[in-house]
Amino acid sequence: MLSNKTIVVGVTGGIAAYKACDVVSKLKKLNANIHVVMTESACEFVNPMTFQTLSNNFVINDMFKEPKTWEVEHIELAKKADAFLIVPATANFIGKLASGIADDMLTTTVMATRAQVIVAPAMNTNMYTNKIVQDNIHKLSDLGYMFIEPASGRLACGDIGPGKLADVDDIIKHVVTFFEEKSTDKDLVGRKIMISAGPTIEAIDPVRYITNRSSGKMGYAIAKRAVARGAQVTLVSGKTDLDIPKGLAKFIAIESADDLYKNLVSEFDSNEVVIQSAAVADYKPKSYSDKKIKKKDSDLCIELSRNKDIAHELGKIKGDKVLVGFAAETNDVLENAAKKVKKKNLDFIVANDLTKQGAGFATETNIVKIIDADGRINEYPKLLKSEVGDKILDKVRDILENK
Ligand code: PMT
Repeated sequence: MLSNKTIVVGVTGGIAAYKACDVVSKLKKLNANIHVVMTESACEFVNPMTFQTLSNNFVINDMFKEPKTWEVEHIELAKKADAFLIVPATANFIGKLASGIADDMLTTTVMATRAQVIVAPAMNTNMYTNKIVQDNIHKLSDLGYMFIEPASGRLACGDIGPGKLADVDDIIKHVVTFFEEKSTDKDLVGRKIMISAGPTIEAIDPVRYITNRSSGKMGYAIAKRAVARGAQVTLVSGKTDLDIPKGLAKFIAIESADDLYKNLVSEFDSNEVVIQSAAVADYKPKSYSDKKIKKKDSDLCIELSRNKDIAHELGKIKGDKVLVGFAAETNDVLENAAKKVKKKNLDFIVANDLTKQGAGFATETNIVKIIDADGRINEYPKLLKSEVGDKILDKVRDILENK
């Protein structure tokens, strides 16, 4: 995924330096070419040999004693970088960078690079929240440096609060997203796309509800890719733990299937494409109890009534819009999905087989088959949900262009 990309990883002296080993190893597995530059204090935490072995490249940590076999000057390394990742970045390093101090190999190389610098800070909570550090971060952000927000939790020093190095997988995701967005064709500029995502919630009483296992990851991934490709995106989402993607034209939070229906209908005319990846409850409790239902000795029956089939309703008023549905199946995947594409008047449907590992709910990946209205089927291997998003958007673009 990161083939042909050169990433220079700068490691500064904090306890989280050991986590940088995992970052380097994971970037290497994505086929990136990695060069590590360490500060003197970083070498107190992790031996350069570890990074040398993980990156398969010499580690640079001394301005004046470069390895004899090292052919590339640090300025050339700065030029060679497609991205610079500082992990972990201490308050001291951030302070030097913000003040233009270049007094060691890392600060000199970062100062000399024109590549995007991505900074993953890690430090004690009081240091991180200190106004000087925060001002430095703001100054650097304004200058175009990207920051990966640290996590909150118990730090190595025992304090609890923000300052913990972001999760390694989140750091990798940031880097991958940066490259994806950089290399993205803006082929959907001006296109208005509405995407539904996440689960619906059907309330039983003020305390209980019926929902499903959708995390929203699939819909959010499509939304992010559509934004990256230049579209004006409206995301209508059930409750999720995900951050609202940046760059959306509109974000609408919904709870129930009725909420989703109302919002999709009211935004329908303003969009030319609707991608329905939300997992919608087919049933809701027939009546809502505004008081908490008390338990009794006997069993409890909750009568359910049918929710609207939203995709079917939108299919009836389709006009010349592009409608895309999803089919979440556990058996007879193709047969069931093919029925839905017809019944709901969709241009195509994305079928995921929920029984396959790495497909469906809450995973980072999905395994899908795309079935056109005329029955043509495209099968895909296991892909990241962002990659599935691109496949869907490629098809949407082709349909729009041929209209
Ligand atoms: O959110 P994630 O954790 O990433 O998981 C992704 C996903 C599995 C939820 C997603 O990939 C997916 O399959 N979404 C559709 C789930 C679903 O409701 O499937 P369905 O086969 O029941 O419905 C078919 C289509 O009709 C869907 O586009 C659905 O949005 C729509 N529908 C369903 C019921 C209903 N009452 N109204 C609808 O509009």
